[in-house]
Formats: sequence, C-alpha cells, structure tokens
Amino acid sequence: MIGIIGAMSTEVDGLRAMLSDRKDRKICGIKFSRGKLSGADVVIAQSGVGKVMASMCAAAMCFRFRPSLLINTGVAGAVDPTLRIGDIVVSEGAAQHDFDTSAIDGTPKGWNQALGTVVVKADEAAASVLIKTALKEGLSAKPGIVVSGDQFISDNEKKAELADVFGASVCEMEGAAIAAVAAFNRVPFVILRAVSDGADADALMDFPAFCELAAGNSIKVLSSAVPELSEHYK
Ligand code: ADE
Repeated sequence: MIGIIGAMSTEVDGLRAMLSDRKDRKICGIKFSRGKLSGADVVIAQSGVGKVMASMCAAAMCFRFRPSLLINTGVAGAVDPTLRIGDIVVSEGAAQHDFDTSAIDGTPKGWNQALGTVVVKADEAAASVLIKTALKEGLSAKPGIVVSGDQFISDNEKKAELADVFGASVCEMEGAAIAAVAAFNRVPFVILRAVSDGADADALMDFPAFCELAAGNSIKVLSSAVPELSEHYK
C-alpha cells in the first residue's frame, strides 16, 4: 500500500475525492482514508501544517498501515530562481533547514544526529517515476533538494541562505520530517511538490493566489503516477 500525506485540505481533498472503496478512521485526531486511487491501494492523510504534525502523521501511518512507499505531496516555495509557478519538483533528498545545534557541537546546519546526515535521501526509483509522469502531463519537472522548517519563507535573504547552505530547490514545512520518520521506519519515501510562490517578498501575495493551481498540479501527477508506483511498491 502507498501512503500519501499532505498538510492542507487543498493538497489532499482532491485525492481523497478520487478514492473508491473508501474507509476512514481517525488516529491521533488525524483522518486516514484507505481506498483505491486510480486502481492502486493507498492510504491518504491530511497531517496539518509543520514538522510536528507531519511527524506524528507519518509515524501513525507507518505503525498502523505499514506503507511500502511514503509520498509527501503538495505545494512549495521556489528557492531555485529558474522555477516558475506550477512547476514540479521531486525530492532527491530532504533537510530540516531550521534544525541547528552547530553552536554546541560544531555540526553543520540541519545535521540529524540520529541519522548521521543533513540530507535524507529519497527513493530514486519513485522519484524518477514522478518526474517522468509530470513531463508526460505537460508540466515542467526537476529533481532537487527539498528543505523544510516551521516557518513560511517570504524573505529574499533567507531564500538566498537556503540556496547557499543546503543547495535547496524548494522550501516547505513538512517533507524533511516525513523523510526522517520514513528513514527510521525503513520505508522508502519521496516528496512531490508544485511551486506556489517564490519564497520571496512577493510570496505573501503569490501563495494565496496560486496555491490551488499548484496543488492541482501535484494531484494530477500523483493520481496519474500511482498505478506505476504500485507495481513496484505493493
Ligand atoms: N509552502 C509553499 N510556499 C512556502 C513558503 N514560501 N515557505 C514555506 N512553505 C511553503
């Protein structure tokens, strides 16, 4: 079964609406919907925004449903200046940009002590299926580093820092938390995001204007890729 997590209703409602044989249950206050998406067995949950909610949701999903692949889907702010609104980015890996113990132990920013890395690597096979599907759907799509933190980025200096320190392609608020939970549970993971804003001074206007369009692109790619993904991750 494939596990799918999105933070906001715009990111998951469209997918939930496509489920057949749907069965809902609540765990930790989060609704998990099992069913068939484009014929494939999936479980879909809306985690809520931020790394705490995303971690709790991913852990509950791993314990209860034992997914063979965990996908985090939704929208993101572009850090890579070549990205445009609606473009798809699929994770090569994910890092927590706001995790920093460098002052006390000299480790690099984002260093996850338990995993011994900054960037948690995503599943390459799943990422390439998602990129191929996005291109087939007529969208622009690239692999990249996804950075996550408990803040909405709307600042040119912060955006430049995320590019410099992490080589980030996009920023959002959940993916790296889900990646870490997946790694501890030995579940392959991938993040699929569509650009809703440029994480810059205009982001506060662009995000509400383009969130639905961008979320729709992620939903389109995911619903179309799920049959091929479910061949590999039963
Ligand atoms: N999700 C979409 N846009 C974002 C941004 N600019 N910062 C953090 N999360 C986002």
